[in-house]
Amino acid sequence: EEIRNLREKLINWYDINKRDLQWRDLAKHIDPNIRGYSVLVSEIMLQQTQVATVKSYYSKWIEKWPDLTALSKATLEEVNTLWSGLGYYSRGKRLHEAACKIVHEMDGTMPQKAEQLQKQLPGVGPYTAAAIGSIAFNERVGLVDGNVIRVITRLCSIGADTSKKSVVDVIWKLSNEMVDPERPGDFNQGMMELGATVCTPKSPLCQSCPISLMCRAYKRSNPKEAAGPADI
Ligand code: ADE
Repeated sequence: EEIRNLREKLINWYDINKRDLQWRDLAKHIDPNIRGYSVLVSEIMLQQTQVATVKSYYSKWIEKWPDLTALSKATLEEVNTLWSGLGYYSRGKRLHEAACKIVHEMDGTMPQKAEQLQKQLPGVGPYTAAAIGSIAFNERVGLVDGNVIRVITRLCSIGADTSKKSVVDVIWKLSNEMVDPERPGDFNQGMMELGATVCTPKSPLCQSCPISLMCRAYKRSNPKEAAGPADI
């Protein structure tokens, strides 16, 4: 019951407060391959780069390579040129490799399940696989990134060291249990958006938080401490 309340509150908040980002529109495209491609490109770019910076790179990228076939025909030099300024060039290279693999070895059809995505595509780890599965293909999988770790540790008042794999494994499990079965993509993006804009590392805006009444750290009125020693 509490979990249904959490889903409803979070998704309502997300519907009203979500940022207007180009890849979110493309993630709703009727063509499943465009949806998957759009989330693949944006999530890879967002891995080590801030939203504000990614915006312009993302639009340049989509303009130049609107789909997997177009990207598969690019050269690595072209990819690196467009990527310059984003840093961590291997990300662009692996994105290109993934497009080539899908076009040449998988009949041009992107896998739709997180498990397949992670197994079959270079550069796609558990986070990116779950993001594509849930956001583009409505798969019921939770996901965990730095923002989600902070939200969940506060929500459940987990004081343990989040640099430990065993602790992050528990957070993955919780995320998979919490995710809304009807709208997994919006639930996951809501969690990330909440962590990025409200449940921030320092001075979280608990007064504006849609789930503060369910938050164990808030109830104990020490939201900051609940993030644990790492204060991520
Ligand atoms: N950070 C990385 N990916 C994101 C997404 N899809 N929504 C919100 N924040 C994000």
